[in-house]
This record gives sequence, C-alpha cells and structure tokens, in this order.
Amino acid sequence: MVRHAQQPGEAPVRTDAPDADILCVDLVRIFKVLSAGGQGVEVQALQGLNLRVEAGELVAVVGASGSGKSTLLSILSSLDQPTAGVAWVAGHDLLTMKEKERVAFRRRSVGFVWQQTSRNLLPYLSASENVAATLAITGAARGAAARRARVAEMLDLLEVTHCAERRPAEMSGGEQQRVAIAVGIANSPRVLLADEPTGELDDTTSAHVLEAMRAVNRELGVTTLIVTHDPAVSEHVARTVQIRDGRTSTEVLRSTRVDEHGAEQHVAEEYAVLDRVGRLQLPDDFVSALDLRERVRLALEPDHVGVWPGQRPTTTSDRSSDHESARVEASVPQNHPGGTASSEDFRDTAEGTETTTSPTTEEEPS
Ligand SMILES: Nc1ncnc2c1ncn2[C@@H]1O[C@H](COP(=O)(O)OP(=O)(O)OP(=O)(O)O)[C@@H](O)[C@H]1O
Ligand SMILES: [Mg+2]
Repeated sequence: MVRHAQQPGEAPVRTDAPDADILCVDLVRIFKVLSAGGQGVEVQALQGLNLRVEAGELVAVVGASGSGKSTLLSILSSLDQPTAGVAWVAGHDLLTMKEKERVAFRRRSVGFVWQQTSRNLLPYLSASENVAATLAITGAARGAAARRARVAEMLDLLEVTHCAERRPAEMSGGEQQRVAIAVGIANSPRVLLADEPTGELDDTTSAHVLEAMRAVNRELGVTTLIVTHDPAVSEHVARTVQIRDGRTSTEVLRSTRVDEHGAEQHVAEEYAVLDRVGRLQLPDDFVSALDLRERVRLALEPDHVGVWPGQRPTTTSDRSSDHESARVEASVPQNHPGGTASSEDFRDTAEGTETTTSPTTEEEPS
C-alpha cells in the first residue's frame, strides 16, 4: 500500500482516520425539492452507498444518468454535505470537518477535474499560468524557480508542453483536459477526483485523457476516482464500481494473467457488492430473466448462495409447482462447481436457477 507523507500546508490528518484514502459507509444524501403543486418532496440521491478506495488505487465509478455520481463527487470534494453516513477522504472526516480544515483540505489534499473545460481552467491565462496560479494559491512550490520547474514537470507528464503558452481557447478539448489534470495534481494532492472528465470528448480523445490519468496515478501514486456514465472507462482502470439508484451494486476487477503458452490474458471478473449488513443488488438482467419479484428464496451451500423465485400465492396448480420447487431446493448441493446438475437442469424441471456470489469471468462464463 502507498503511504502518503504529509505535505507542507496540508491540513493535519486525524489519528483515528481509516487506512483507505476514500471510505464511504452507508452514505445518504436526501434533497428536499418543491413539487409542481408546491408540496415538499424528498429525492434520495444516495441511498446508503458503500465505497472503499485504497491509497494509490485508480478506480472508476460508472452509472446511468441520475444514479448519484455527481452527488457522490460533490460530497467527496466537500462541496456538499451528506445527510447521513460516514465519509472520509485523505484522512479527513467530511461530516465533522470545520471551515478552516475544509479550506485546507480543498487546497492541498484533493485535486479536481470537472466535465466542463471552462470550469477547470481560467480562460485568460495560458496553460503554464494556470498551473502556476494553483501553485501560488496553495503555496505548494515556494519561489519562482521552484514553481517554473514544477509547471514544466506537470506539462511534460501530461504531454502538453507544446500548449504551455496557449490559452484554453487555443487548445483542443483533449489538451484542455490534460492541462486540467496538470492543474489538479500540481500541488501533490493525496486524492484526485474527476467528474465525467471525458464527457465532452470523442472516443479517441477520451481514451488519450484516461490513459493520461492512468499515467499520473502510476507515476505519482495519487489515489484517483473517476465518475462517468461511459462504460468504456473500465478498459483503462483495474477496478470499476457500478452505481445504481444511489448505491454501489457491482464491481469489475481487471487483471493480467499469463496462460500455459506464456501469452498474456486480460481477465475481467465481476462481483456483486455486499454491504456490512449483507445486502446486495441482483443485476437487472438476472431479476428479469427469472421474473424475481417481492421475495426470493435463498439456500446456503458450502461455497455459494442460491437464489430462487419466491412463492406466489394463487391457485392449487401453482401450489403443486411450489412443491416441486421446494424439492429442487433440497437437491441443490449437486449444483455446485464439480457437481452433476447444471443450472439448465433446474430451469427445465422447476423454473428455478441460481445466482451465485462466486466470481464470473469473461473467459469462463458460468
Ligand atoms: N441539488 C439537487 N436538488 C434536488 N435533487 C438533486 C440535486 N442534485 C441532484 N439531484 C437528484 O439526485 C439524483 C442524482 O443526481 P446526480 O447529479 O448525482 O446524478 P448523476 O449520476 O451525476 O447523473 P448524470 O450522469 O446525468 O450527471 C437525481 O435524481 C437528481 O435529480
Ligand atoms: Mg453527473
């Protein structure tokens, strides 16, 4: 694990801070809005979200529009306060932080990259001046020579040295975002947060910007969290967390293995996220494939948990099929890896199949 040395000017880190650089436990954010009829209505943007990002990790959070991505990032960057739960970033407790600590946190502990290039860079300053302005405001590099050296180092790392004297309007969208990353990391923050950093870019330019973020993460060890609606981001990061209805639901872990012929294989394994009290979200396609509704039946097996459609109380004939299904549940131990029955067998005999908490891979679909 990468441990972070306290930077000069950085707000002191709490001694009881968690090991992880980002930790959210049961995070809730409720907005109160007025309906058309003038009534107060609650919008639950985050509904008990859990997320842990270790020091030095590069993680993407992906989700559909309205799933709570920007709400999460606003809280992590301390622009917004959660309604309930636990949120720690870079050793700071975001729920109890006082104003002075909040200012120091935002100046030195975290860097930001937003979707709108206009929000990242000052339009009347060149790329060099934008980076230098951050260093001057935060006091990260003392003296003109140290600042010049740091500016050159950052622009070189992001491969935008050729833009040094250009203003944002004289750069492409991808160049502007790479300069924005240089601004975000110039003061050596412990955590870099990015909200849809490629939202205004085409596919090729997006890939270039995501690779730049990966290089920054690798070279500087800065813990990086990218939120985006674009699932293609998962090709550029080792860990992608899916957010659904204000909760983290599944995670994809990517790794590289060497096969028996010595060739490199890229493997993606998908996991459901399990919270502290044992809750998990079944993927939409699993739910609709088995028409799971209201209640399901569970069975604990030596190495997995089975999930079946629950009882639907109606007619006598339904009751006989429920009886059949109960019989299958009793015979389930055969249906574990190495057993004799396949999930197809269960579908054929009793409308039941199982969802396991074991990982599935792209190579070996279960
Ligand atoms: N300030 C606010 N007041 C009321 N409701 C809000 C506010 N901000 C967000 N919401 C609601 O919270 C939910 C999550 O919004 P959020 O902006 O976090 O989604 P998102 O995942 O970033 O979506 P997108 O991909 O479109 O940017 C939405 O239903 C949104 O309407
Ligand atoms: Mg958003």
